[in-house]
Amino acid sequence: MNVPFGDLKVHYHSVKQEVDTAVKRVLESGYYILGPELKTFEENFAQYLGANYVVGCASGTEAIYLALVAAGVGQDDEVIVVAHTAVPTISAISMTGAQPVFVDIHPDTYVMDVTKVESKITARTKAIVPVHLYGQMVDLEPLMKLGADKGIPIIEDVAQATGAVYKKAQAGTTGAFGAFSFYPSKNLGAFGDGGAVCTNSTEGYERLLRLRNYGQSKRYYHDEIGINSRLDEIQSAILGAQLPHLTEWNARRKAIAARYTQGLRDVVFTPVEHNDHVFHLYVIQSGDRDGMQQYLSEKGVGTLIHYPVPAHLQKAYRYRDVNEGDLPVTEYATKRILSLPMFPQLSDEQVDYVIDQIKQYVQVNPAAKASQADFAAAKTVTSSVSPVKLR
Ligand SMILES: Cc1ncc(COP(=O)(O)O)c(C=O)c1O
Repeated sequence: MNVPFGDLKVHYHSVKQEVDTAVKRVLESGYYILGPELKTFEENFAQYLGANYVVGCASGTEAIYLALVAAGVGQDDEVIVVAHTAVPTISAISMTGAQPVFVDIHPDTYVMDVTKVESKITARTKAIVPVHLYGQMVDLEPLMKLGADKGIPIIEDVAQATGAVYKKAQAGTTGAFGAFSFYPSKNLGAFGDGGAVCTNSTEGYERLLRLRNYGQSKRYYHDEIGINSRLDEIQSAILGAQLPHLTEWNARRKAIAARYTQGLRDVVFTPVEHNDHVFHLYVIQSGDRDGMQQYLSEKGVGTLIHYPVPAHLQKAYRYRDVNEGDLPVTEYATKRILSLPMFPQLSDEQVDYVIDQIKQYVQVNPAAKASQADFAAAKTVTSSVSPVKLR
């Protein structure tokens, strides 16, 4: 059997009629940038989120950038963030001229360890960026309280968690801004690049409208320095056609995850769900991750590692005074994690095949097993290393 990591062609065929109709409508309209499709999608997505405003933009990276600038982040400021994320989270911070200040992750959930944030706050801290990684949300309540006490805005990176809910609030709607990616494989994906920012602030909304469109307040009048970051009409129409499916797709992701966990929980370290988890990715840990990945590949199962090198150890960020060993839980996870196939069109038979292959590998190679005991070891790693100053 062949089980690809993802299959966007199968995805396209599951929505072909709606998407084809939407694309044709735009092509025939003669209106391709900042038109009615964008406006309708922004309104519908805002309604889905329960947010006052949504502003479409060109990518998730630029959604984070625009949100940071709208929150007042600029040159030489500091932004607290995790290193265990897609590097674009960090690129967006760098694009503002600010410095990323890294905190470690929680060993259960792979997302920001909110207890470690306060010690990183300095007079230059201008934002905190929790990343809802793999589809699971950061524990926002203590973070919001900390941000309110210190006067620091929280900007949620929702790229991997569109549709997740935390204490009745959609991901992205609790912080000052929420930044979304519509990269094709995301829970809600365009057929190209795309992103959006949501906010409840009218002032923030108006600023985002200017920033994404050359800083213009009206045509050819530039009130501030902006960029070109717009969600085009074709992608807006495609997203609008798919939005009604998001709830059912996330439910299917959860069902697939439950099936994986049921089959694998005694064999490998399966995801721990602290908050609502919409499973953009289903990530396990193995004691022999590389061997397992190789074996699965030979058996026709596609896997990936999210992410093999944390941001603080990437060449682009090595110029800073951050070293290996500084973020022990992040680095521990990096060596053990493996993302299994996860997309709504995956069949139960395919999921069962993946489970069987993993079980077989662990049977012949017991070192590949991972359990709660390893998880305890990760916690020891955390507490045995004294905090290192990252800057
Ligand atoms: C957590 C996270 N943040 C930001 C991004 C950037 O989004 P985009 O690829 O749309 O620029 C991604 C997607 O790769 C992501 O996964």
